[in-house]
Formats: sequence, structure tokens, C-alpha cells
Amino acid sequence: MATHRIGVLAGDGIGPEVVGEGLKVVEAAGVDFETVDYDLGGERYLRDGTVLPDSVVDEWKTLDAIYVGAVGTPDVPPGVLERGLLLRMRFELDLYINLRPFRHADRNIDMAVIRENTEGAYAGEGGFLRKGTPHEIVTQGSVNTRMGVERAIRFGFELASKRRRHVTLVHKTNVMTYSGDLWYRTFEEVAAEYPYYGTAYNHVDAACIYFVDSPDRYDVIVTDNLFGDILTDLGGAVSGGIGKAASANLNAAGTGPSMFEPVHGSAPDIAGRGIADPSAAILSAAMMLEHLGEGAAAAAVDRACMAVDGSVQGTSAIGDAIAAAVAG
Ligand code: IPM
Ligand code: MN
Repeated sequence: MATHRIGVLAGDGIGPEVVGEGLKVVEAAGVDFETVDYDLGGERYLRDGTVLPDSVVDEWKTLDAIYVGAVGTPDVPPGVLERGLLLRMRFELDLYINLRPFRHADRNIDMAVIRENTEGAYAGEGGFLRKGTPHEIVTQGSVNTRMGVERAIRFGFELASKRRRHVTLVHKTNVMTYSGDLWYRTFEEVAAEYPYYGTAYNHVDAACIYFVDSPDRYDVIVTDNLFGDILTDLGGAVSGGIGKAASANLNAAGTGPSMFEPVHGSAPDIAGRGIADPSAAILSAAMMLEHLGEGAAAAAVDRACMAVDGSVQGTSAIGDAIAAAVAG
């Protein structure tokens, strides 16, 4: 297999620490790859005002995958990096599926949340009128297209075909009666093409209770962008902590590279101390290997993470132990 060209955006805070461990493990798995580093994120923005040059977006389109640590520093105003870097990457590379798996053996958790990743409340629709006056008006809409909803739901059923063949739609159809209607109708139509699959519908508030009380009911969940954002933090919290939560931002149609990153942020409070758990970043690297067609290496990394889980402490000690288990 040809050498994989991986763009690496290590970012801020604990990002570089955990990404370093991820790449160490990929190397130990014997995968042939080369990296292209991108100095972007909060520190870069504070240094020279750069968020994401157009030329970088063009270059990304030529890569096989992008591996991200975390971006964000406390001095950068909210929205600059989120909208200007992370969301722009999702939109421009059409990373329309955000796949976030959660497992916890003792709690019987083995589920995958599919979060629609390019629309909804994240689309950026809305604005201010009469800003700063007592009569200020603000709207922030949720944009849902039939195409975007349908491709997320279809991905859910296809994923379920490799799992336990059960798909739950999570939304808030009792209040969001327009977007909820589109999601529900589309879900029913797609489900009809998969007659032997179990399906369920949960309101998002009820799903929060089930995540805590009875998460074993879930196999695959499909949901919109904002519900998925919130629900996947909860998913991390109930399945071993956000330090274990991995994610794939997929251009599932394969028209460009996909992006892989831990669900957690840059955690400036613990940065530089060598105590961040690199598991989420390493598991995200395993998802990247799977996507690159390196299924055996991906499975080996995954098994190594499970074997090492909880037995060592410290960023590089955990990375070393997983790398050793992979090299076996
Ligand atoms: C995530 C993050 C991002 C999101 C932020 C940093 C823009 O919370 O990946 O879940 O809201 O999608
Ligand atoms: Mn989030």
C-alpha cells in the first residue's frame, strides 16, 4: 500500500502531547506514513492573526487524512477558532459525518453516535438587529437540508449493518416541529429500506437520562449537529471519561480527506504536565487507520488500548505501553 500522507494539526494545550503519542502508536503498528505539520490554533492566532489560510484548505484536499489534537487558548475570543478553523474545516472538506463511538464493558455500553456535522445550529444562520440597544433582536437558526439529513441517517443504517442492526433517532420532534418533522420522516423512509433492523426514537432530553440509566439500549444513534455535540460529551462522561472519547469527522463519500481528533479540548489547565490521557487521541488514530484501509493495524491499536486501559498513568507512559502492546 502507498505511503499515507497525513496532515497533522497538533494545536494548543495538551494537543501536541496527545498527538505525539498517537503518531508513536501508528508507527509502532508498522503503518507506512508521512506527516505534513500545520502550525495553526490559538497560539498561532495570537502570534500573527492567522486562523486558516485558503492555501492550507487547498493543500488539505490533496492529503489522505488529517489528524488533529485540540485547538484553543484562553486568550482567544470565543468563535474565532471554532468557526474560523474547526467548523470551516468541516464545511470546506464536507466532513458531514461525526462518528463518535463509546464503550464501557462494566456498564454494557457499546454504541456509536452519528452526529450530522455540517448543518443545524452550526450552519451560522442568523444575526443581530439593533445590536447593543434595548430593542436588540437576535436570531440563530438551525439549517436542515433533506440531503444532509438523509446522508447522515443512511450512514447510520450502513454502520448498523456492521454492528447490532439497531438505529435510534434522537431529536426533539415535540418542540422542533419543522426540523424534527424532516428528520423523523426521512428516518422512517430510510428505515423502510432496512426492514429487519430495530429502530427507536428518543427525545434528546430523555436520551440524556437513558445515557446514564440504561445505555445498553443503544447500538447506533443518529442525531443533529447540536444535539450530537451535547450528547457526545455525555457519552464520554458515562463511558470512562472524555479522555477516552475518540472521533472521526468523515467525508464518507470519499471526495476528500477525513479528519480524526479526540472529542476533548486543549485543556490548558493540565497542559505541559505530562498527565493528559492520550487514549482518545490514540483511539482516534485507530479510526484513521481503519479509514485509510489499514484494518489490521487499526484493530491491533484498538486491542492494545483495551489491554493497557487503566494500568499505567502519564501521557507518555500510556503511549509507550500501547505502542509496546501493538508492536507485540
Ligand atoms: C466538538 C467541539 C466543537 C463542536 C467546538 C470546539 C467547535 O465541542 O468537536 O464537539 O462544538 O463541534
Ligand atoms: Mn463538543
